[in-house]
Amino acid sequence: RDQCGIAVESRINCGCDRSLSRADCEARGCCYVPLPQSGLGGPPWCFYPVRYPGYKMGPLLPTEKGQRATLARSAPSYLPRDIPTLQLDLMPETLGRLHLTLKDPASPRYEVPFVTSQSRGHKDIQNPLYDVDFQPDPFGFIVRRKSNGRVLLNTTIGPLLFADQYVQLSTSMASSVISGLGEHYTPITLDLNWTSVSLWNRDMASANLYGSHPFFLVQEGDGQAHGVFLLNSNAMEVFLQPAPALTWVTVGGILDFYIFLGPSPQSVVQQYHEVIGYPMMPPYWSLGFHLCRWGYTSTNITRTVVQLMRQAKIPLDVQWNDLDYADQRRVFTFDLQRFGDLPRMVEEFHQLGMKYVLILDPGISSASPPGSYKPFDDGLKRGGSIEILYLSNQVWPGPTAFPDFTNPTTQDWWTDCIRVFHSKVPVDGLWIDMNEPSNFVQGSVDGCPDSDLEKPPYTPGVIGGQLNAGTLCVSAQQYLSNHYNLHNLYGSQNHLTGEISESTRPFVLSRSSFPGLGRFSAHWTGDVRSDWEQLRFSIPGVLLFGLYGVPLVGADVCGFGGDTTEELCVRWTQLGAFYPFMRNHNDKPNAPQEPFVFSQQAQDAMRTAITLRYSLLPFLYTLFHHTHSSGSTVARPLFLEFPTDPDCQTIDRQFLWGSSLLISPVLEEGALEVTAYLPPGTWYSLHNVIPPLILSYYSKGQYILFPAPLDTINVHVREGSIIPQQVPALTTTASRRNPFTLIVALSVGNWAKGELFWDDGESLDTFEHGNYSYVLFFAEEVQNRENFGLMLTSDICFILLSCVGAIQMRVFGVRAPPTSVWANGQKVHDFSYSQDTKVCNKRFILIFKMC
Ligand code: GLC
Repeated sequence: RDQCGIAVESRINCGCDRSLSRADCEARGCCYVPLPQSGLGGPPWCFYPVRYPGYKMGPLLPTEKGQRATLARSAPSYLPRDIPTLQLDLMPETLGRLHLTLKDPASPRYEVPFVTSQSRGHKDIQNPLYDVDFQPDPFGFIVRRKSNGRVLLNTTIGPLLFADQYVQLSTSMASSVISGLGEHYTPITLDLNWTSVSLWNRDMASANLYGSHPFFLVQEGDGQAHGVFLLNSNAMEVFLQPAPALTWVTVGGILDFYIFLGPSPQSVVQQYHEVIGYPMMPPYWSLGFHLCRWGYTSTNITRTVVQLMRQAKIPLDVQWNDLDYADQRRVFTFDLQRFGDLPRMVEEFHQLGMKYVLILDPGISSASPPGSYKPFDDGLKRGGSIEILYLSNQVWPGPTAFPDFTNPTTQDWWTDCIRVFHSKVPVDGLWIDMNEPSNFVQGSVDGCPDSDLEKPPYTPGVIGGQLNAGTLCVSAQQYLSNHYNLHNLYGSQNHLTGEISESTRPFVLSRSSFPGLGRFSAHWTGDVRSDWEQLRFSIPGVLLFGLYGVPLVGADVCGFGGDTTEELCVRWTQLGAFYPFMRNHNDKPNAPQEPFVFSQQAQDAMRTAITLRYSLLPFLYTLFHHTHSSGSTVARPLFLEFPTDPDCQTIDRQFLWGSSLLISPVLEEGALEVTAYLPPGTWYSLHNVIPPLILSYYSKGQYILFPAPLDTINVHVREGSIIPQQVPALTTTASRRNPFTLIVALSVGNWAKGELFWDDGESLDTFEHGNYSYVLFFAEEVQNRENFGLMLTSDICFILLSCVGAIQMRVFGVRAPPTSVWANGQKVHDFSYSQDTKVCNKRFILIFKMC
């Protein structure tokens, strides 16, 4: 009886796999205590008693990497095919990273094929940030933050269940502020009120979405944070409850946990990226504006779009084509009637300094008469006795075969197909869509075999109720394992072959994702509707992918599904100008939404936003350099930058670029003002604002109402930062040749700092090979002369030195009109001053000191 006296919010559901009657519940040895409200969606009526029998842990013995123990069940659980004995390995890998695995020592089970260079740990960890304790019987572990004793994870609150197709583990959580477990349509923090999220990649907007990221970050409430990554690619459901606690249920694989102790939220993200791999360095042009739609039905129509953009003087770097270009929607072909001069069109775009990307779905048409579609014929031939293609599916071209990218032969064949196509059409990047993989029939046109894989004892909550719904038969045997195990990796596997040039950086955009995708690819949030709600939720969507190590991410600007409106499209373009990846993309039946189709006023507003983005690209590129070289975020939730400010914990209607730019978009129809939170300190408005708008704000950590007329997105620069900019142009090819400018936002203490990473923007591994410039800007008061001085230093100074001479600056926060301005020892005469902040009696002198 006493064993059932558990607080309602802490009840761990004894029927995660199915709903249980009193008799079923008691047969499992669980407590059945009905509640007044319905059992559905609320606290369970059937829950585990305290110390529900499970595994018993043997002694911990030292190993090369840490410690090991054996766990054994004395009695079987209620699940079919229990694994009676488990091996626990505890591996302290770094001071802040603990690795813990539970697997079957008797027969190897599927493990995610996952290797990154950074993931190896160090030896001999002395004094890590964590402590681990064990409860031997029933087995459970407790991870504490050593500095304050806080319990971060406690798995003794529920049993460990480990059967062939059902693995379950519960843990308490240190707070209710948890972010992650995507890809779903959620705010930046998850709802713990008896909810669950499923991780199974599906082409299913607004539900279990295209990607799976079994990682979460918990804000502990005092500015510290930790993260947990469960490296498991099987279908999974995670149940969340207000205790706060969560329960993982996965239908296969092993339990492979990485626990990151931070202690700051930023360091949690970095520690996670160390394991899954730092993101790629994108080509510079990919940070420009991209324009796409389904329905540019010929090269001439596509050319006209580019011409109209240029006439409207709106920057455009990359023009795209959707399926329209392909002959009968078959990839690696182009329609000779409507796209006959595709290669010439691409060359023309290149002449304009632009790039070109087209869609390349992984599904290969399998219905063409033999001898008429070489990619398919070749694929069949190359396979020989081993299947490299899964037939009997349906996607856009009709009957379709899916390549097995885990097979090296498939990778060779796919790379060859790309090479041959690229030799005809010199595309600059590839858009890999439908790679969940998405299938228009369930499993296959012939159905799926009747097996435990297709119908596991328990199926996580996926739309359609079966794992093969909208995808392949999960029993399909692939080279590395079966699709049941590999499904969530499908999109990440096929990027390995997305490279089209040996010397320049690849650009790949993928819809499906799994941890590690960001090493190769960008991501967009899929088929969003053109409405205000989806505009608003695109922010957490983008921010969460930053945590997942895919920083080059954006939503379809102006929305994909349904007709947009002019106002929505203007506001979306303004927000999109601050997505790390900015592409306007539209579905076939919809009203056009290219910037030039709107009124002059709307075009002006869009041009202003996109031009502002272009002026900031050197800053954006530098942020990408940081994520690439040390793992961090580009578009950043406020809590990462202001972890001790409780107001920032859940903000996801605003975000930052790096640590210095705060973006506060309008997200409501008709709004001409925006209420935005400014963390404590001074913030400067980035606009060339006309009175009566004020330029600088001192915030105590408060919400402020800002004017936001249709032509304005509020962007604020944080005190103490220097933002490198470049005079914008219609393409990045042109803007990269323009002079640099700097925004210097002085702190109250009269200092500021910033940096610039600069290279040729496209060669592979420039950072790794040292082919780059890195400039550190530092502004400080010159004490001894009663002057304010701005000093610029750079640690490597080739390429850039010549440009720095041409630099222009805007300095925010100069408290009194300067009496003189100097640059490199020369007096500067063409400067202006506008009174914007409090008075200060310092004279203002700029001193450039180059390396
Ligand atoms: C999918 C994609 C969408 C694309 C369409 C046609 O729905 O998500 O972006 O336009 O397929 O290729």
